[in-house]
Amino acid sequence: VPHPTIGVFDSGFGGLTVLRALLPKHPGAHYIYLGDTARLPYGAKSQATIARYAVESARFLATQGADHLVIACNTATALALPEIRAAIPIPVTGVIAPGANAAHAAATNATALVLATSATVQSHAYRETCAALGLRAYEKACPLLVPIVEEGWIDHPVTRDVLRIYLREALDEMAAENLTPSAVLLGCTHYPLIAEVVAETLRELHSTATVVDSAEATARAVAASLTPSSQPDTPTTFTCYATDSIEKFARLGSHFLRQPIPEVHLLDLGG
Ligand code: DGL
Repeated sequence: VPHPTIGVFDSGFGGLTVLRALLPKHPGAHYIYLGDTARLPYGAKSQATIARYAVESARFLATQGADHLVIACNTATALALPEIRAAIPIPVTGVIAPGANAAHAAATNATALVLATSATVQSHAYRETCAALGLRAYEKACPLLVPIVEEGWIDHPVTRDVLRIYLREALDEMAAENLTPSAVLLGCTHYPLIAEVVAETLRELHSTATVVDSAEATARAVAASLTPSSQPDTPTTFTCYATDSIEKFARLGSHFLRQPIPEVHLLDLGG
């Protein structure tokens, strides 16, 4: 079995949390990661713009020889998955279905809270995908969290304050509808970096919900769809492309990937 080339796309660095989860899953695979950093954030943009950007990026990865594409960006998956699938001739895996499945498995009372960008929440992609599984999902937009995480403020008082406000609001809004979440799904690439702080803040607010990460669930779904490697000792390799400053990508991205990023290529998609 030849080693697969897997394209991984995100609006920026955040999808490196998905690449991090993918790397150990399929030895010998080659990954091509594209972060559309020149046009980030997607989370505050319209459907038409997100679809146009995401399709351009997906086409680039397909022409680079990817035989499978992972949309690591929750916003691009929520707003543009059908357009991406229609534009390229290779299988495409998004983060929403694996994330919804993981939340469903973790939500003991069939009720979950999904934290995501404004565009993802407005699309209701998580609510609908969860509903099809019999899981009631309440979606909460947390627009301040992406810039906070990009600033590297992980265990930081501001991060804790902002999270306390968002989570208290969400839990109160849910309580008004007689809902108590037993799972909290991190529906944005950046949130796995603050998973620990989310869990601690939930405890502080007397919630016993489990925190669920869609990055790990997506990596498992992709690995399950690939033919197992016949040469498990072959090293796994990856190449990164960014549409803006490659220096910034290497520096910020290494926090998301939790390893140095030796080589980043600058790509002009016209953004
Ligand atoms: N990658 C986006 C997501 O997962 C977050 C960053 C953005 O808004 O572009 O929703």
